[in-house]
Amino acid sequence: RMLKRQMACRGDIHRLNAPFLAIYESLIPPEEERTKQKQLLALLEKLVCKEWPKAQLFLYGSCANSFGVSKSDIDVCLVFNEDINDKSEILLKLADILQSDNLQNVQALTHARVPIVKLKDPATGISCDICINNVLAVVNTKLLRDYAKIDVRLRQLAFIVKHWAKSRGVNETYRGTLSSYAYVLMCIHFLQQCRPAILPCLQGMEKTYNVMVDNIECAYFDKVEQLSNFGSPNKETVAQLVWGFFNYWAYGHDYANSVISVRTGSIISKQEKDWTRRVGNDRHLICIEDPFEISHDLGRVVDKFSIRVLREEFERAADVIQYDPNPCVKLFAPYVH
Ligand code: GTP
Ligand code: MG
Repeated sequence: RMLKRQMACRGDIHRLNAPFLAIYESLIPPEEERTKQKQLLALLEKLVCKEWPKAQLFLYGSCANSFGVSKSDIDVCLVFNEDINDKSEILLKLADILQSDNLQNVQALTHARVPIVKLKDPATGISCDICINNVLAVVNTKLLRDYAKIDVRLRQLAFIVKHWAKSRGVNETYRGTLSSYAYVLMCIHFLQQCRPAILPCLQGMEKTYNVMVDNIECAYFDKVEQLSNFGSPNKETVAQLVWGFFNYWAYGHDYANSVISVRTGSIISKQEKDWTRRVGNDRHLICIEDPFEISHDLGRVVDKFSIRVLREEFERAADVIQYDPNPCVKLFAPYVH
């Protein structure tokens, strides 16, 4: 397939730079949203502290990893310095506290895969999910944020990819497509493997940050301000990278044998991970290794139907960028599968 295709992108690819950058800029949350998020976090801290003086609150997910678009909900993690056996009890207590402080739509979802309390703050209009002791999510949030500081093209590429995925209906894990977290890892991997590389492999460098979480060593080089020129030998623009990303996932990736691994900065084999056959519900049809929970395949939600949808969407995106006279409209055309 790769051979049949033109390997070079269309000559006028640079014409897509301005529209892609305009989309990127329009998706960046304005400063006042940050202020409101901090305001809500401060209120939650005040309420939580009264009941559990030693507990701490952390933001995680898109509101803290720098890949959040405007008007996103915020993800908060309540961390106790001890193991919690019964999260339901804590969540119900928390819901109680929040309810009596005029927060709206307070709901404890104690049976969800990740049990949470949901709420809406009437003062700021922000909705928020609070989970308990999900420290790995707080740490992988920092990893993503640190990668984003190295080269602005990661954030540009990931915003375009997330916007595409939401428009095309392929950012819905409950329907077998991929999470935003998975898409950002796919972007990081893509920028690690291009030549010259635009991103380094932080987990392969000197470990300046090191924490143990749930018996997993989370360690990497986090002095990223020292890496601000890392990607500069590569002059590719966002338009070329978006083209490259979709071509990679449409025609360049070996779905049968490869696992993408941000941890190693490369491809590893399914064989090596023993991800060659279906185990339980994990089918490993597209393999994306979590950087810290390395037994965790973020593609595990993808089934034999949704893998077709995904691959057809990657091919469609690559072809639209390659041949369509008006790719910016076509690429993001809303679609429900
Ligand atoms: P949007 O809300 O879509 O803008 O993106 P988000 O970055 O908040 O992504 P998402 O809701 O996919 O994930 C929230 C956070 O949960 C991620 O940033 C990770 O820190 C954490 N997380 C860890 N493991 C997983 C996983 O297997 N699936 C998902 N979805 N999230 C995970
Ligand atoms: Mg989120």
